[in-house]
Amino acid sequence: MCGIIGLIGKNNNIKTGLDALKRLEYRGYDSAGLAFFNSEKKEIFCLKSAGRINLLEKKLEESKFDLSGNPSIFHTRWATHGEVTDENAHPHWDCQKNLFLVHNGIIENYKELKEQLIKEGHKFSSETDTEVLCHLIEKLFQGNLEEAVRKALRLVKGTYAICVISRQDPRKIVAARLSSPLLIGLNEREYIIASDPAAIVPFTRKIINLDDYETAVITQEKFFILKEKVPEEIEFTLEEAEKGGYPHFMLKEIMEQPESLENSQRGRIILETGRAKLGGLESVKEKLRKIKRLIIVACGTAYHAALVGEYMLEEYARIPVEVEIASEFRYKKPILDKNTAVLAISQSGETADTLAAIREAKEKGILTLGIVNVVGSSIARETIAGVYNHAGPEIGVASTKALTSQLEVLALLTLFLGRQREMSLVIGQRIAKEILKIPDLVKEVLKSSSQIKKLAEKYKNYNNFLFLGRKYNFPIALEGALKLKEISYIHAEGYGAGEMKHGPIALIDENFPIFAICPKDSVYDKMISNIEEIRARKGRVIVLTTEGNKKIEELVDSVIYIPKTLEMLTPILSVTPLQLFAYYIGVLKGCDVDKPRNLAKSVTVE
Ligand code: AGP
Repeated sequence: MCGIIGLIGKNNNIKTGLDALKRLEYRGYDSAGLAFFNSEKKEIFCLKSAGRINLLEKKLEESKFDLSGNPSIFHTRWATHGEVTDENAHPHWDCQKNLFLVHNGIIENYKELKEQLIKEGHKFSSETDTEVLCHLIEKLFQGNLEEAVRKALRLVKGTYAICVISRQDPRKIVAARLSSPLLIGLNEREYIIASDPAAIVPFTRKIINLDDYETAVITQEKFFILKEKVPEEIEFTLEEAEKGGYPHFMLKEIMEQPESLENSQRGRIILETGRAKLGGLESVKEKLRKIKRLIIVACGTAYHAALVGEYMLEEYARIPVEVEIASEFRYKKPILDKNTAVLAISQSGETADTLAAIREAKEKGILTLGIVNVVGSSIARETIAGVYNHAGPEIGVASTKALTSQLEVLALLTLFLGRQREMSLVIGQRIAKEILKIPDLVKEVLKSSSQIKKLAEKYKNYNNFLFLGRKYNFPIALEGALKLKEISYIHAEGYGAGEMKHGPIALIDENFPIFAICPKDSVYDKMISNIEEIRARKGRVIVLTTEGNKKIEELVDSVIYIPKTLEMLTPILSVTPLQLFAYYIGVLKGCDVDKPRNLAKSVTVE
């Protein structure tokens, strides 16, 4: 921990800076130093020494320097790299002694940078990591100090708070920070830069805190701050984007759902407290505690995820939720108020309708959130806060692993918001425990892929399908129908099972197969009644139910089993067989399952 002071303004008295530096001596005091620009001589004077600041002061008096000038920089050191010697004290300088720099932090990649600079002819005078910055800035300097500093810092790994002055661009101090604190204090006479507010208080209480990746340029008259774009990491490797040995991206992405679900939940479940840790929501945590209504906007498969989320959030977080098709939301006149938050769900983060819906909400000052898979995408950047899926790249046009990841993140969001409200520790722990099991349960479901392939062979020539579900699985009925439509071009409809008797039952005959999603849950008996209504009209039923439910086999043509889990989590298990069913029928019909006709992976137009 080192102490840094920078001074620029109408006050030329170097003693001022030294007094300020003394207030930082607690941060490290194995050596100290200063440098300041004397405008008459057009020189920068520098003095530094191992030992305490009062030793530096003594040497300064003996030096007979004219102690007047600015800008000036000061440093008190706590050694990290290099012995406690005069040479290793700060400020450090470049080969030509044109620029002087003080630093708090650690340049992690200084060795390789130093080797390269030495190869290029730079001469070093200390053992410190800091001095590398001086030679980098010197190498990149083309007349503008801040430009050279910014270019140099882009090559640096580690942490820093720095102040730099230069004889060649003397009317300024350039300051920058990454992880090490740095503040600018301002009063009517001068600007003071310091690594700790303790040094600033005697001058002023008006301060500007520099943020990470910010570079400040401070002159006698003004200051301005330049913000670096924070580099975002593309999350996937080329190898991941390849098919990994599968015939199609869609099958690869269906089969890797155990891993993608593992990744989506990693580090986000706190079993002891039955809570979810969602770093991307930390900044708005208190606002979320107060919201009284949540609107979710999405398109296509993401819309179906949102519908499941509505059931989760209303049942377990007791928050009223409205799910809106994004292309509808953006043209209606929604009733929005400060107690409402708008959540966008989007795999690509670029869907035009969803992005427009978010912008509409932001216009009205509404808190906007995102559940997005693609890091750095427009929706991720334009929402105030959010949660990345971390499901990895989804190349197949049909959304599969992104959907199950969205459902898992919605379950985590339910935990996050529910535990801010009435959800008990016991319920929270029970949900948290079950979410932890989900990747393995999906692995179990995927073991039935050969059975589902056989089903696809049996049903591939039908021209119509009806998917039925209730409550948590009503949206999965919609999703199953969408998958079949978009992958095999067979017409399919998803319906709430309770709605069938209000019309669609007229369609039922032996040529109209029905996929009934019927886990042993709170609406199981209702689903059985619907299945019996279908059977009475010779309809052919494929049922998806909870393993061990052998009794149902007497009622239906085919049965697919899924493991038992909490009702709110069954959609993650029940959708997977439907994805496989659509995939295998599409392949059997010779469709381009990764790039179905007329579709695009991300619909960036209205
Ligand atoms: C899903 O299989 C479709 N490809 C499509 O409905 C998709 O879900 C929709 O376009 C939304 O995309 P997004 O999640 O990237 O916003």
